[in-house]
Amino acid sequence: MESSPETNLKGFSIAFGTTEFLGALAVVMMTVWVGHYRGGYSWSSLEPDLEFNWHPVLMTVSMIFLYGNSMMVYRAFRNNRKRRLKLVHMSINLLAFIIAVVALQAAFDSHNNKKIPNIYSLHSWLGLCAVIIFAAQWVFGFVAFWFPELNASIRSAMMPVHVFFGLLAFVLSVATALIGLTEKAIFVRLINATQYTVKIQSKDIQPQCDPNISSQN
Ligand code: HEM
Ligand code: HEM
Repeated sequence: MESSPETNLKGFSIAFGTTEFLGALAVVMMTVWVGHYRGGYSWSSLEPDLEFNWHPVLMTVSMIFLYGNSMMVYRAFRNNRKRRLKLVHMSINLLAFIIAVVALQAAFDSHNNKKIPNIYSLHSWLGLCAVIIFAAQWVFGFVAFWFPELNASIRSAMMPVHVFFGLLAFVLSVATALIGLTEKAIFVRLINATQYTVKIQSKDIQPQCDPNISSQN
């Protein structure tokens, strides 16, 4: 016997609530980690390390939390009018894109101020791909489903493509964030290890970092 839509929604509220909780937790933990353990925030070229700190926090807010929420809008508010849901979906994605651009700016500015090359890592290449697919997705989504809004047959042909690339960029963002966190943990450990080695090699000498390692972000 086929189950009714009501039966299919069983457990939805719990799954949705758990997802929201984990998303908010990721934002809070990232904010606390950076604010408390990585020195806090600044937007000054004189403090490039602190300027960089905006990058992981704003990326988590935009490319993880807001992005995830924009995708869930159609499921969580399924009884609302479609046009209203579209407006919310695209507005959240636009806000996410603007915040992601500020997050990229923080990383690029901090690299430029510290004379570190840009786009040298797997993380940066994957991250750039994710943001570019995300931006293209917004433009194509806008033209197809909002304005001028293509005809019904083209819209239905485009929908699976829209959903596929929407999910692809999200998975890519999550992978990028995990690689970024790992990379940062390695940089921090390298700096600490270098300081420790210099300290035990010469107890009289003030500990110094290898400039190549300490300048990483
Ligand atoms: C999902 C979101 C993210 C995206 C799309 C992203 C994207 C990028 C891009 C494009 C760069 C290159 C900037 C440049 O070359 O000047 C970069 C740098 C960096 N990001 Fe992220 N990032 C994300 C999240 C994170 C997170 C959560 C961390 C954790 C700390 C992080 C850590 C870093 C580090 C350490 C660098 C500098 C080293 C490098 O270029 O690989 N990122 N990111
Ligand atoms: C960065 C931008 C965007 C991303 C990442 C994105 C992603 C997605 C994803 C993953 C879905 C599937 C949601 C689900 O199955 O529950 C979806 C559905 C949809 N999106 Fe987008 N989207 C973007 C922009 C837009 C824009 C600008 C519009 C224009 C109004 C739009 C209109 C739609 C529509 C109409 C659906 C179908 C909802 C349904 O009937 O289930 N999207 N989008």
